[in-house]
Amino acid sequence: MGNNLFATKSVDKLRSDAEHGHGLKRALGAFDLVMLGIGAIIGTGIFVLTGTAAANNAGPAVCLSFIVAGIASAFAGLCYAEMASMIPVAGSAYTYAYATMGELIAWIIGWDLILEYLVGASAVSVGWSGYTVEFIHHMTGWAIDKKWTTAPFLWNEAAQSFSSSGCYINLPAVLITLAVTCILVIGVKESARFNSVIVVVKVLVVLAFIVAAAPFIHPENWQPFIPENQGVFGKFGISGIFQGATAVFFAYIGFDAVSTAAQECKNPQRDLPIGILGSLTVCTVLYILVSLILTGVVHYTELNVAHPIAVGIKATGIGWLETAVEIGAIAGLSSVMVVMMMGQPRVFYSMAHDGLFPKIAASIHPRYGTPWVTTIITGCICAVAGGVLPIGILAELCSIGTLFAFVLVCLGVMILRIKRPDIKRGFSVPFGTYLVPILGAVMSGLLMLTATKASLIRLGIWMLIGLALYWVYGASHSHLQKQLRGELPPDEEPAPPSPIGFSEE
Ligand code: ALA
Repeated sequence: MGNNLFATKSVDKLRSDAEHGHGLKRALGAFDLVMLGIGAIIGTGIFVLTGTAAANNAGPAVCLSFIVAGIASAFAGLCYAEMASMIPVAGSAYTYAYATMGELIAWIIGWDLILEYLVGASAVSVGWSGYTVEFIHHMTGWAIDKKWTTAPFLWNEAAQSFSSSGCYINLPAVLITLAVTCILVIGVKESARFNSVIVVVKVLVVLAFIVAAAPFIHPENWQPFIPENQGVFGKFGISGIFQGATAVFFAYIGFDAVSTAAQECKNPQRDLPIGILGSLTVCTVLYILVSLILTGVVHYTELNVAHPIAVGIKATGIGWLETAVEIGAIAGLSSVMVVMMMGQPRVFYSMAHDGLFPKIAASIHPRYGTPWVTTIITGCICAVAGGVLPIGILAELCSIGTLFAFVLVCLGVMILRIKRPDIKRGFSVPFGTYLVPILGAVMSGLLMLTATKASLIRLGIWMLIGLALYWVYGASHSHLQKQLRGELPPDEEPAPPSPIGFSEE
């Protein structure tokens, strides 16, 4: 059809588009962004996956798994920070790819981000449901019928097939998703405030665990620190540390969601890097401490449970803290959902703005100033996915989709450094053009390869569906392609390269 699939958007045009705004309110500051990042990061990963990774893969060395996953995330985080400081628009990795690798890759990454944000939020809603049901049981003695709290489908990895669980739906997961959707339609500042309160609760609970449990460490639980490999790749030993890193990678997902709030920041070039790197640093430190203390308090073989932190607290005998941790987990998981479900509509919004999705997806609510149509669509799909699918499938799809986006963003930073060294960057990745982006892309790629075969196949199918959609809709409606075909007038002269000068309201 004569399209130039690798045509890129002009970075200057993107910046000028962002500068002139599309009706999104510029309400967020650096502190809001760090809170937003922590809100997205600390969740199912630390509250649930720490225990399973320790028990199945790494033993006490799960803290090394957190370090490995944290380093991979930090490389990607640095690349996101440079991109976000240079192209502070709502589409995040999607927009970065549009400016560096062309429309087709941008579409692929935008489509892929659905796995991160929408599917990720569904995974967290299932975790939220688990903790909430447990909390209600713990507080009131009421055990809600499992048929209403469990997905109807189960995945059998050995047989590579779905089976029925005999249950109807995970109703709490559906309800929390719909509640978060309503909050997000009402407004971003309100959402950020709601998020900040919850984040404080969640961080306090994690800190309380660290302080209260540290005196109960039995150093013999750390012996051997790296349990011997059991003859299978990923079952303890060095390979276990790496497989554990893939398992806990989910715990770091979320810092990049900060970049989707770019058009709602007061000073995006200064504050986005602070938001991304600040939240990542805080969470990495907390994760290392929690995993180290948890495996010191309880032997790793006892941690293969849905509530490992609660098991750790039980071992200390501090009863009140158990309730506090449950409340913190429930609050923490809610805030992860808020940020993920806030990120997704903003990616749709950017894609619709470029003509790759129908125009209605770019409509902003006249009163609330939020991308309400896409928020509601996201909420509904997310509710269905969380209601019917098991957490394992959702979490792994989310991780693999995110890693794929990381690879492309790292490569994008390198490409843009080579193609446009002149653009003013509010933040630059250290150590030159190649080192950090290449290490970031390689580490994310390696973590991707350790995912299960079924997840890689699902990613492939998802991408094929995306390409088909691009072919039937995106390619013919894309504004850039229309301009290239002469059906739309070219954009007016791009804004001068620097300074970007977002207005400080
Ligand atoms: N990092 C988020 C979590 O652990 C996705 O829940």
